[in-house]
Amino acid sequence: MAPRCWRWWPWSSWTRTWLPSSRSTQNFGQHFSTQEQTPQICVVGSGPAGFYTAQHLLKHHSRAHVDIYEKQLVPFGLVRFGVAPDHPEVKNVINTFTQTAHSDRCAFHGNVEVGRDVTVQELRDAYHAVVLSYGAEDHQALDIPGEELPGVFSARAFVGWYNGLPENRELAPDLSCDTAVILGQGNVALDVARILLTPPEHLEKTDITEAALGALRQSRVKTVWIVGRRGPLQVAFTIKELREMIQLPGTRPMLDPADFLGLQDRIKEAARPRKRLMELLLRTATEKPGVEEAARRASASRAWGLRFFRSPQQVLPSPDGRRASGIRLAVTRLEGIGEASRAVPTGDTEDLPCGLVLSSIGYKSRPIDPSVPFDPKLGVVPNMEGRVVDVPGLYCSGWVKRGPTGVITTTMTDSFLTSQILLQDLKAGHLPSGPRPGSVAIKRLLGSRGVWTVSFSDWEKLDAEEVSRGQTLGKPREKLLDPQEMLQLLGH
Ligand SMILES: Cc1cc2nc3c(=O)[nH]c(=O)nc-3n(C[C@H](O)[C@H](O)[C@H](O)COP(=O)(O)OP(=O)(O)OC[C@H]3O[C@@H](n4cnc5c(N)ncnc54)[C@H](O)[C@@H]3O)c2cc1C
Ligand SMILES: NC(=O)c1ccc[n+]([C@@H]2O[C@H](COP(=O)([O-])OP(=O)(O)OC[C@H]3O[C@@H](n4cnc5c(N)ncnc54)[C@H](OP(=O)(O)O)[C@@H]3O)[C@@H](O)[C@H]2O)c1
Repeated sequence: MAPRCWRWWPWSSWTRTWLPSSRSTQNFGQHFSTQEQTPQICVVGSGPAGFYTAQHLLKHHSRAHVDIYEKQLVPFGLVRFGVAPDHPEVKNVINTFTQTAHSDRCAFHGNVEVGRDVTVQELRDAYHAVVLSYGAEDHQALDIPGEELPGVFSARAFVGWYNGLPENRELAPDLSCDTAVILGQGNVALDVARILLTPPEHLEKTDITEAALGALRQSRVKTVWIVGRRGPLQVAFTIKELREMIQLPGTRPMLDPADFLGLQDRIKEAARPRKRLMELLLRTATEKPGVEEAARRASASRAWGLRFFRSPQQVLPSPDGRRASGIRLAVTRLEGIGEASRAVPTGDTEDLPCGLVLSSIGYKSRPIDPSVPFDPKLGVVPNMEGRVVDVPGLYCSGWVKRGPTGVITTTMTDSFLTSQILLQDLKAGHLPSGPRPGSVAIKRLLGSRGVWTVSFSDWEKLDAEEVSRGQTLGKPREKLLDPQEMLQLLGH
């Protein structure tokens, strides 16, 4: 690593001149005179948390400069690599992120893995403040025997595969089996079930990768079980996503009315969103469908079902031991009530034959760097309102701050809060006072380490290439999957 030394930097005579405000105002930039410094702020990660943090900082401080460092060559995190291809409207947030990136006080530096190419300490030396917004890139392990067998995948990898995440492009899941089991009952589980069961011709006009589309066209998967360790009242998916499953063309739901006995009374006190979700589940499970819907279900060639009170215990191997052929589930009962109830095994088990097991029990953040505190149990960077505990000048936002739950708007609200806190600290004089070199120093360091960075205008060239490749296929884009090819296209 190159020595850390900013002696050559010409602004060493700068002093801290953050003035206390006599007026209450949101715009901190109003408090600076012309000779006052530009706060150099760095954001790690270019998903919703990174971009919303940057947007808020730029809006509420008229001089702040924000650099976004991203490990992938391309921006937008889970908006590109997580959100399902058949939900294009969700990806419209990219337009807002692009506006932020176009600000002359914002710069995107792709292909930089913080913790590997540059340390957090080096970033802290170069900037007045660093915000960690690096998401939750790992998956929760099942920790059961057989998890490593071929035929078992994390939903994270499966989603990455159909969404063109470079590291998952070789996944090639074998879809030649009749039955798939998805473990977990959150929205990711429903995304994965929907992609497995949607007639491929309905996906042709989306940005799903051609490789995934080809595999789904050949798929023989007819039945998908979505398995939860708790009951219907505790499902983690939401009503819009459930409705999409119920209405999925060529597919029928398999819900056991017995699972819903007594639920009608118990949902009376539930909060409105859960009550509406339960009412839809109850109607679908227990009411006789109308003539049209009954005919639609009768002609369906594929089916999905929810299984409750079943906790994964072991992936069962095929007779030759070479791949998964089923899953052993521990039958559970609930201890406690409502959301806080816990699934405990009754001692009974049930074996469910299947050729594909997709574990969708949540994502998980990784520690980024030994200098940054990390809570392995909660999987977050320990923080107070976004201030990283015991590390002045270091902040966090998004999934790495709160844990891997919440939709894009939740992440937006949370990121705005972190930005507010940072601006408060800046105004109160709690951040380093002297000048900071920002990206000039970091890019110099990266150059000395042979790291070639991708700018936002580079991304726009890749974007144009993807859109052009998509046009020939009748799709909004065909994603580039190979980082080497991307770098070549950029002339490297
Ligand atoms: C499969 C899936 C589908 C979803 N669908 C929806 C949906 O339809 N609607 C909705 O509202 N919400 C959806 N969500 C939730 C939404 O994606 C999250 O709320 C949001 O993406 C969290 O933002 P984030 O910025 O914290 O994390 P991320 O989006 O994961 O962004 C983190 C970024 O940090 C980068 N990074 C990681 N490590 C480093 C490092 N060391 N150095 C530099 N950069 C790094 C990553 O490459 C990534 O770009 C979905 C989530 C998943 C998992
Ligand atoms: N369309 C959308 O808006 C959309 C799409 C995808 C994702 N998202 C959001 O992204 C976030 C992440 O979604 P997610 O589905 O990954 O997570 P999630 O909503 O937290 O759901 C995780 C599921 O896994 C189960 N689970 C956890 N640990 C388990 C274990 N050890 N054994 C068995 N089951 C286990 C949970 O059950 P318990 O409740 O019993 O723990 C729950 O059913 C959510 O906030 C989601 O809403 C939104």
